[in-house]
Amino acid sequence: MPESVDRAAELRRQLHHHAHCYHVLDAPQIPDAEYDRLFQALQALEAAHPELRTPDSPTQRVGGPVLDGLVPVRHAVPMLSIQTETDTTAAGAEAFDARVRRELALPDDAPAVEYAAELKFDGLALNLRYEDGVLVQAATRGDGETGEDVTHNIRTIGQIPLRLQGHAPAVLEVRGEVYMRRDAFERLNERQREKGDKTFINPRNTAAGAVRQLDPAVTAQRPLSFFAYGLGEVQGWALPDTHSGLLDAMAGFGLPVCADRVVAQGAAGLVAFHAAMGAKRDALPFDIDGVVYKVNALALQRQLGFKTREPRWAVAHKYPAQEQLTRLNDIEVQVGRTGKLTPVAKLAPVFVGGTTVSNATLHNVFELRRKGVRVGDTVIVRRAGDVIPEVVGRIVAERPAYVPNFRMPRACPVCASPVRRERGGMDHRCTGGLFCPAQRKQALLHFAGRRAMDIEGLGDKIVDQLVDAGIVRTLPELYTLGVAKLAALERMADKSAANLVAALAASKATTLARFVYALGIRQVGEATAKDLARHFGSLDRLMDASVEQLLEVNDVGPIVALAIRQFFEQPHHREIVERLRAAGVHWPESDGTADTTPRPLLGMTVVLTGTLPTLSREEAKEMLEAAGAKVAGSVSKKTNYVVAGSEAGSKLEKAQTLGVPVLDEAGLRALLAGP
Ligand code: IVH
Repeated sequence: MPESVDRAAELRRQLHHHAHCYHVLDAPQIPDAEYDRLFQALQALEAAHPELRTPDSPTQRVGGPVLDGLVPVRHAVPMLSIQTETDTTAAGAEAFDARVRRELALPDDAPAVEYAAELKFDGLALNLRYEDGVLVQAATRGDGETGEDVTHNIRTIGQIPLRLQGHAPAVLEVRGEVYMRRDAFERLNERQREKGDKTFINPRNTAAGAVRQLDPAVTAQRPLSFFAYGLGEVQGWALPDTHSGLLDAMAGFGLPVCADRVVAQGAAGLVAFHAAMGAKRDALPFDIDGVVYKVNALALQRQLGFKTREPRWAVAHKYPAQEQLTRLNDIEVQVGRTGKLTPVAKLAPVFVGGTTVSNATLHNVFELRRKGVRVGDTVIVRRAGDVIPEVVGRIVAERPAYVPNFRMPRACPVCASPVRRERGGMDHRCTGGLFCPAQRKQALLHFAGRRAMDIEGLGDKIVDQLVDAGIVRTLPELYTLGVAKLAALERMADKSAANLVAALAASKATTLARFVYALGIRQVGEATAKDLARHFGSLDRLMDASVEQLLEVNDVGPIVALAIRQFFEQPHHREIVERLRAAGVHWPESDGTADTTPRPLLGMTVVLTGTLPTLSREEAKEMLEAAGAKVAGSVSKKTNYVVAGSEAGSKLEKAQTLGVPVLDEAGLRALLAGP
């Protein structure tokens, strides 16, 4: 028996360690299959000896019982809220600093107050209670005095440690925010849409709903994340002197703490942080509704104290809201590149998520019906990150007099071809193919795109005119355009016409991957096009590949393989390819067997930052990817190299903190040249 006890403890220790590497550090040390093997070994051991099961066992993350209701929990230390500064300009930060200085009775010439500045995560506040390092309870904020016990659900969140690392205090209550990442939210809604189920409004509501589920199995289906930002009750721990030190200590215990935080000096430091994070907001993987400033020294926090239910030492400084109400003036139907008909909301212009929005997607007719949206309604518009703005719901009470329900047209609004819907599918499509001017326009724009043939200056205004005037009907006709023809278009100066002709000529020298992507084959995005080019090495081999041969390509499944096969089976697609080649479009092809190029950086992750002396960002990325490396947007422990040019910023700093090797352009070239 003592043997099993030790073995179980050792398995738990290993599993905790690897879960932390995977979920918090984003740097797994063992393959998933090995983790599963350890996990199953522990499960088997616990099944044989149920008395070995402990509340912090990783096996306890899943499969808890379904509850009848949530149990109230009285917080040992009330969970307060913070005052909100709604002036989204620099004045908001300045007002807070002035207030703090006044409350501390600092003379005008006293040095700047030091603050900890962090993000205001848009989720749900949570209290995690650890006793002797073991998670014993998770509770929602509730009314601040009494929340609800949600331990069963919180255990399903891989990022939340069931046991703290290092020397844990006797009691440590960690406060933070549960949230859902935007990509997890989009994927969840995508799945709902495919099933024809109701979609969720925003990541915050979804996270809040998931946390309060009675069945932990449902919560486990809604991927949640967590950031720690404060403390509740503490026993047996000498607190650090500062809030920033506290966050560092919490990260040391293995808790997820957001890296986008600074120690700022005075109002100027706060203003700079507010601006920097505002600029970064859309690029963050999660929603924030502002930033939070906290007086950094805990001694000063004590001195400032509380005003009824809010600390005087903290404030939330908002950003423009990502959801707004506006009037739905009309519903138009747009035809995309693949013929998909999308109902688009025409809105009374509204400022949301930092820009003015007057169009928003309604996705498809089924979703539109489920949301019950009609012309004249007051609707909720959401714009967050680089996701296109969408109508997520409507205000029920404000329906005007009778308005007929929206119907998808039976004929394409652009070319009048019949509209079809695949059996069981959610999408309506125009059957006109490239006969449809809308599809033709989108196909041309896609072909000209930066990641495709990269024809600079061929934007939607020009494409509209070229297609509407019947000058360009197919892709190859682009290459017959001369300066005279282009200069005759509206608002086209001779100079721009000459530039466009030069750009068209330059685009003829391309790569196989870009060309394949540019063709706009359904299901074939940039990454798949790269895989296909690498695998087949030549266009002819790709065009003649059978479904079975296509399935051999990395990441190509049956749906993608079939889409490619069907594309090249159509004689007019082959004709387009031949005419493009005849027009002079060319790329280097590898002869002989596929995929023979050496890929010395396979499996490596590289981050680019700053401006390199001779290579553009795009060129460096292409070279790295050709050598097999993955180019990532942010630095983590998983990053193998950071390539830094001039004016490199926080990514370089992060690399230095994490000890990731940093290369300049010469170093990059040496790396690419291989050993
Ligand atoms: S500190 C006593 N820090 O915003 C101070 N709150 O009213 C307690 N929030 O309910 C809050 N990010 O859910 C703090 N970095 C952050 C936060 C944060 C989000 C939420 C929290 C709280 C509300 C403030």
